[in-house]
Amino acid sequence: MALLRTEHLQKQFGNTRACDDVNFVVNQGEFLSLVGSNGAGKTTLVNLISAHLQPDSGQILFEGRDITRASVTERIKAGIARSFQIVNLFDGLSVFDNVALSVFSRDGKATRMAALAERDDAVAGEALEVLEQFGLADKRDTMAAGLAQGERKLLDVAVAYALRPKLLFLDEPTSGVSTRDKAQIMDTVSAVVRAGKVTAVVIEHDMDVVFRYSDRIVMMHEGAMLADGTPDEIRANKDVANILLGAPLSD
Ligand SMILES: Nc1ncnc2c1ncn2[C@@H]1O[C@H](COP(=O)(O)OP(=O)(O)O)[C@@H](O)[C@H]1O
Ligand SMILES: [Mg+2]
Repeated sequence: MALLRTEHLQKQFGNTRACDDVNFVVNQGEFLSLVGSNGAGKTTLVNLISAHLQPDSGQILFEGRDITRASVTERIKAGIARSFQIVNLFDGLSVFDNVALSVFSRDGKATRMAALAERDDAVAGEALEVLEQFGLADKRDTMAAGLAQGERKLLDVAVAYALRPKLLFLDEPTSGVSTRDKAQIMDTVSAVVRAGKVTAVVIEHDMDVVFRYSDRIVMMHEGAMLADGTPDEIRANKDVANILLGAPLSD
C-alpha cells in the first residue's frame, strides 16, 4: 500500500527544474533508497515532502490525504520526519537533551528549557530508550559538539526518529564519514527502523550500501524519475549504469 504519493510534483529555481513532474511512491514498511548524481533533485523532493519548500504545482498525498498545503509541524504530527544533509543538532546541548527535546516537541510541549525534559520521567525514559537503540546511551552527557562525525550523524537520525514518525527521510546519513563508520551507521539505522516498523527513505551515494540495505531503489536524474525497482532490477538497468559511470543515457 502506498503510504506516500506525489503527483506531478513540480519545483523550479530560475531555469532549473529541480523536480520535474515527479510521481514518487513510498510503500508502507519499505526501506527505500533515493539515488542520483549531485543536483538530481533528491533534497528538493524531500524538502517538498517535509514542507521546507512549497511546490510550484502538483500534489502530495500521505495515507491518502492531501497534505500539499500542510505546515512542517502538521506534517510531523501526521507522521513525517526527516534529517538534513548537514546535521541539525544543538551543539551546546548534551546528546540526551538533543533527543529529549525532540520527544518533547513531538508532544507539542515545545520548550527551550532542556532541563525540564530531564525532570519529566516519561520523556527521559523515552529519550534514553532511543539513545540505547542507536548505541549512544553511554554518550548521553557528552555535548553534541564533542561527538565524532559518525556519532553526530547517528544522533541526527536519532533526533528525527524520536519524533516517532511513520515515514522517516534521511538525507545522506553517511556523508562525510569513513567507510567503517558508514557500515556501522547503516547497520544501526536499518535495524532500528525495521524493528520499529518505520518506513524509511534514505538518500545515499555509495551504491554498495544502497544495494545491500534497500528493498527498493529510485533513481532521479535532472529533476525527473529515471528508474524504480528492486536492487536486482536496478543493477540490471542500463540507464542507471550509464549514470553511475558518467556515460550518456540511451534514447
Ligand atoms: N534553494 C535553491 N535555490 C536555487 N537552486 C536550488 C535550490 N535548491 C536546489 N537548487 C538547485 O536544484 C537542483 C537540485 O538540487 P538538489 O535537490 O539539492 O539536488 P540533490 O540533493 O540531488 O543533489 C540543483 O541544480 C540545485 O542547484
Ligand atoms: Mg542533496
